[in-house]
Amino acid sequence: MNRERGIAMDEKKISELVRRAVETREMAYAPYSKFKVGAAVLADNGEVYTGVNVENSSYGLTNCAERTAIFTAVTNGMKKIIAIAIAADTEEPVSPCGACRQVIYEFSDKDTIIILSNLKGDRMIFGVEEILPYGFK
Ligand code: THU
Repeated sequence: MNRERGIAMDEKKISELVRRAVETREMAYAPYSKFKVGAAVLADNGEVYTGVNVENSSYGLTNCAERTAIFTAVTNGMKKIIAIAIAADTEEPVSPCGACRQVIYEFSDKDTIIILSNLKGDRMIFGVEEILPYGFK
């Protein structure tokens, strides 16, 4: 059991979710930034939904990996995020953008686990109020 920052989640489940985010990242469509991101959401129905960043030649239309994964999860009936893992090839574990933090906030509660990771196996774990204090709801 992982008690990092008071968060209770089985170590194997965390590693598996990170593995899914890393694996999914390969499918990213990022010809403009060349920055591939993968995300994996463990939903309240027990299923894992994955997503990648999908860029567009009209840059502002880009969808981040986190939002792709969350929107797919919602499409499949998710009401609440149990955990979300995000992975990119970064020096430090990749940090979600402000827009994605607000979207994560929408489907989170105090028990939701947010796992930032990179390809070297580094990891940071946060609760939603830590990454977006006093978010809009
Ligand atoms: N990106 C994500 O997918 N998630 C984030 O949290 C940060 C940024 C993507 C968007 C864009 O395709 C690329 O990373 C560079 O910004």
